[in-house]
Amino acid sequence: MAFIVAIDGPAGSGKGTVAKLVGKKLDLVNIDTGAMYRCVSLYMLRNNIGLEDLQSISNFLNVIKIEQKNDKGIEKFYLNNEEVTDKIREKDVTEIVSQVSHIRIVREKMVELQRNMAKNINIIMEGRDIGTNVFPNADVKIYLDASAEERANRRLKQNNEKGIKSNYEEILANIKFRDNNDKTSDVAPLIQAEDAIYIDTTNLAIEEVCKKIIDIIIDKKKK
Ligand code: DC
Repeated sequence: MAFIVAIDGPAGSGKGTVAKLVGKKLDLVNIDTGAMYRCVSLYMLRNNIGLEDLQSISNFLNVIKIEQKNDKGIEKFYLNNEEVTDKIREKDVTEIVSQVSHIRIVREKMVELQRNMAKNINIIMEGRDIGTNVFPNADVKIYLDASAEERANRRLKQNNEKGIKSNYEEILANIKFRDNNDKTSDVAPLIQAEDAIYIDTTNLAIEEVCKKIIDIIIDKKKK
């Protein structure tokens, strides 16, 4: 049986960094589900497919290929065989991804892909609905949170490191917009699973968050 760790939480709560580090340490394959919704968004932007054009969306979902591959320690994303790791982080994609992720048929397809990815491998999967919807029986469920301001600061720093131009006010506004969209959606809203462990990371260093999660996982494996 595969061992599954689900990490959920809002944008910028540290899920991505934490999942990568913990995955590496404990030999769990790390899957970034937000990146999958970003790939779908990029495809729609490039092909001028509107959010309401369910027929076209359904057509391309049948053939779209989204892959995550580890290339010498770096996670890379591929959309129909093209590497799009940086493109899916750009502003135009970030602006529509929350809405795209709430299109029911998009979510159904992504959830199906996510469940297939986890067959027979030990994984740490991060997203919004992993513990509540994708893997309600996950072995460990973590819900990471932090204040919106702290999350905006982190995103700004990340973008700077990647050389992506951005400004704090815009990021903060986008984070609040997405929080609201993600929490109030009637399609898999962002909520903490009842049996998830809540960690507020606002005043914690990334190493401290990882240590907490690693201890939780090791403890669970012993049982
Ligand atoms: O984690 P991220 O910022 O890359 O996620 C991008 C968007 O995708 C975010 O607005 C919420 C959505 N998302 C989702 O609805 N379900 C997931 N499992 C992962 C992300």
